[in-house]
Amino acid sequence: MGASVAILRLPGLIDAHVHLREPGGEAKEDMTSGSAAALAGGVTLVLDMPNTTPPVVDGAMLARKQRLARQKALCDIGFYLGATGSNADEAASLAGQAVGLKIYLDQTYGPLRIQDLAALLAHFRAWPATRPIAVHAEGLMMAVAIGLARSFGRRLHLCHVSRAAEIALIRAAKESGAALTCEVTPHHLFLSQADARRLGPYGSMRPPLATAADVAALWANLEAVDCIATDHAPHTRAEKEGDSPPPGVPGLETMLPLLLTAVAEGRLTLERLVALTCIAPRRIFGLPDQPDTWVEVDPDARYTLSDEGLHTRCGWTPFAGMRVQGRVRRVILRGQTAFEDGQVRVRPGVGQVVGLRTRQC
Ligand code: DOR
Ligand code: ZN
Ligand code: ZN
Repeated sequence: MGASVAILRLPGLIDAHVHLREPGGEAKEDMTSGSAAALAGGVTLVLDMPNTTPPVVDGAMLARKQRLARQKALCDIGFYLGATGSNADEAASLAGQAVGLKIYLDQTYGPLRIQDLAALLAHFRAWPATRPIAVHAEGLMMAVAIGLARSFGRRLHLCHVSRAAEIALIRAAKESGAALTCEVTPHHLFLSQADARRLGPYGSMRPPLATAADVAALWANLEAVDCIATDHAPHTRAEKEGDSPPPGVPGLETMLPLLLTAVAEGRLTLERLVALTCIAPRRIFGLPDQPDTWVEVDPDARYTLSDEGLHTRCGWTPFAGMRVQGRVRRVILRGQTAFEDGQVRVRPGVGQVVGLRTRQC
């Protein structure tokens, strides 16, 4: 018998920002490989972004994604709808089946970007005030998004806040009563421009890694942050090493070990970790409870993050080489062992789709 380990039980994590890539990007990831990576990271519910090929911008594509998830997912999934220059009314009519509307205000990866004020107004007018509008809005665009949300009385969720000036703006907006929430990614909390130089294309994403002072500002203002979400954005090694590497890094499998390490170092309490990765995203996106669902971690396990043994199809992590403390041992989803000691234990199809319209009889 080995020494007994004190196992810590956490609720299943909710990652409000992932790119599972299916359909159209299956060489990078699909619903099964991406949800396996989620389970390996202690994540039992992911919210999937609409910038697939084709993008999720109408009822037919949303239904196709829901069908794929029901067949292939190993954890629960909710879907965002993507905003285009012409789909404001259709998107709003589908709000009950989506976790939110996603608006890209900057150029990132894929075709979804809105640069036209009239189109933005149409979305902020049509989208129901009860559901969040999530934005990719960097720097000045963040101020634009906050202004629009205030003008139309809409709920705004700011994705991947990464700069000192952005978190300062968010503090000020919240203090003046704005109905907004925000997320930060593990890569913007644990990596900086110094790592970007070392990582080359494997450290490139939108928003890009920031200065050490920006990273310090995120940590210093963590009470103004609502949730931590990975922006899991896998791309193949061949793409990353090609002529125009696409932006994005995977993150599902490394978020919890990194955050548990911060807890071990006294930079975060366990209670706050649970609030940031489960309670807040559930509240913001109105997500259902997952009964009999939890994660067992060994909080004392010390190891080095590595590209070996990852479940994401892309097969690499920008955190390789980092020493962490805290390992996912087992994930229970609705009473079933879904993941244990590095292996997925359930079949594709056990994941449920959030907001799925149930068949009327
Ligand atoms: O780095 C990024 N990658 N940022 C985004 O906004 C999109 C994402 C992707 O889909 O690859
Ligand atoms: Zn983004
Ligand atoms: Zn993203």
